[in-house]
Amino acid sequence: MKILLFGKNGQLGWEFQRLLPILGEVTALDRDELDISDMQAIQKKIEELKPGLIINASAYTDVDLSEKEIELATKINALAPGVMAEMSRKVGAAFVHYSTDYVFDGRQGSTYKESDSTHPLNMYGKSKLAGEENIKQAGEAYLILRTSWVYSLRGNSFVNKVLKWSRQNRNLKVVNDQISSPTWARTLAEVTSFVLAKHKKDLYAEICERSGIYHLTGGGFTSRYEWARQILANDPARSEQIVQAIEPASSEDFPTPAVRPLFSALDCTLFEEKFGLRLPDWRDTLQLAMTG
Ligand SMILES: NC(=O)c1ccc[n+]([C@@H]2O[C@H](COP(=O)([O-])OP(=O)(O)OC[C@H]3O[C@@H](n4cnc5c(N)ncnc54)[C@H](OP(=O)(O)O)[C@@H]3O)[C@@H](O)[C@H]2O)c1
Repeated sequence: MKILLFGKNGQLGWEFQRLLPILGEVTALDRDELDISDMQAIQKKIEELKPGLIINASAYTDVDLSEKEIELATKINALAPGVMAEMSRKVGAAFVHYSTDYVFDGRQGSTYKESDSTHPLNMYGKSKLAGEENIKQAGEAYLILRTSWVYSLRGNSFVNKVLKWSRQNRNLKVVNDQISSPTWARTLAEVTSFVLAKHKKDLYAEICERSGIYHLTGGGFTSRYEWARQILANDPARSEQIVQAIEPASSEDFPTPAVRPLFSALDCTLFEEKFGLRLPDWRDTLQLAMTG
């Protein structure tokens, strides 16, 4: 099977590059090889390659900058996924795409199911929701996997930021009123790959039968503050930390251009039941990611 991966150098894309060769012959692209804000370039590449599976790990993920770069965020998060879904249908490819807990406003007070009403508070969430809608309109065999608080041990992830702050500051303040589920990029790629491998024999038909939106995150939920505490506790080079105290703060103490939902944890029961998989608790996964 030919596989086309967009966004190969992102947190998730990087992990997919390690896993996908087990499933088939992979063409993995980064921005320099194909700019997904160019719809014609997407169409041309898919027509040329005629893959059996397309995975979109690319996205405009700068939540605050999305408030300014609305047009670009819309192209990347809303229009491109629609074109990918349409082209997937044309060439008979299964299509996997990722969305976000930020399609919700966080005011429900309990974990969100797929059937709950969306109401994004910021442009990032709006553009991702429009991407979901465009895929549903144009696609046939697709999985839209909504996830949250994706981290890796590479680049500028929250885990690496907390580790960096702990080496520069004696006191840290982290918000404790934002609650969701930390999700290791590797787990996300692995779980997705399990699903694809399980249905590989007749992938298009199998995914077609299960097409839709699913919630897929690390198990359980927590606040950013507690997440940061666990990051410090799992730090394999703890002697390098100079931090002495970590204090809970309110989102109001750290005004940002984009408003974030406060309680946006997702209920992943549908995914677990439909695909017969169990999503490991975020704490266990974090420990594995940092010390394994
Ligand atoms: N990160 C989170 O906390 C989070 C939370 C919920 C949902 N999600 C969703 O999960 C998925 C994976 O997220 P992630 O954290 O792995 O994202 P990421 O690390 O920011 O990676 C996104 C990738 O997309 C690429 N990209 C951006 N614009 C592009 C363009 N015009 N053409 C081609 N490539 C482009 C980026 O390339 P450059 O490196 O060149 O910019 C980067 O490699 C996304 O759909 C995201 O919306 C993420």
